[in-house]
Amino acid sequence: MLVTIEGIDGTGKSTLIEGLKTELADLNPVFTREPGSSWVGEAVRRGIKEEINPIAEALLFVADHAVHVNTVIKPALREKKLVISDRYSDSRYVYQSKTLKGHIADPVRWLKDMQSEWTVVPDITFLLVLPVEESLRRINAERESTEHFESDGVLREVQANYMKLTEEDPKRFVIVDAKKDKEEILKFVASVIRSKIV
Ligand code: TYD
Repeated sequence: MLVTIEGIDGTGKSTLIEGLKTELADLNPVFTREPGSSWVGEAVRRGIKEEINPIAEALLFVADHAVHVNTVIKPALREKKLVISDRYSDSRYVYQSKTLKGHIADPVRWLKDMQSEWTVVPDITFLLVLPVEESLRRINAERESTEHFESDGVLREVQANYMKLTEEDPKRFVIVDAKKDKEEILKFVASVIRSKIV
């Protein structure tokens, strides 16, 4: 089963995932992420930092996804493992919809077409939702430098794009109120995952 965790920056994805490692330890899940841990993932991070160009950046994210799907996701699913990914294709659909504006007419279509023949669609996606002001407050408190995605205008649009995706695919998404206590969020997410496996 493929589970993905999504949300704008600063919503507590990392904290949730750290918690799931203990909470779901008996299920022996494979924890993974996008951008991934291969050198392509490193290239993506470099591309983001250097703000290369929106199209090149998007293509790097897709290249990273291809490596991720083939080296991590598909092999683990073949072994019937539970796979939990910190970000996945929805991040691309929502962030690149913003960054590709003015470059590509329909970024989601463009991205989906590129991936459709080889990607794996998640079984369940948890979307952590937090007001943008609160997310920015958390980002600024935690880090010294921010990525070009982490501004009020970008995150507002990205959040709206996430909400659009949930309306288009309500069966796959579980919306989580990221303002709630982190233990409560952890217990809720873990229980939903368990309920889907049995
Ligand atoms: P990530 O390394 O997860 O950053 P963080 O730890 O700050 O969440 O991702 C880096 C940024 O890349 C993040 O702001 C979201 C963005 N992103 C995209 O724009 N497209 C994508 O396809 C993915 C996976 C991430």
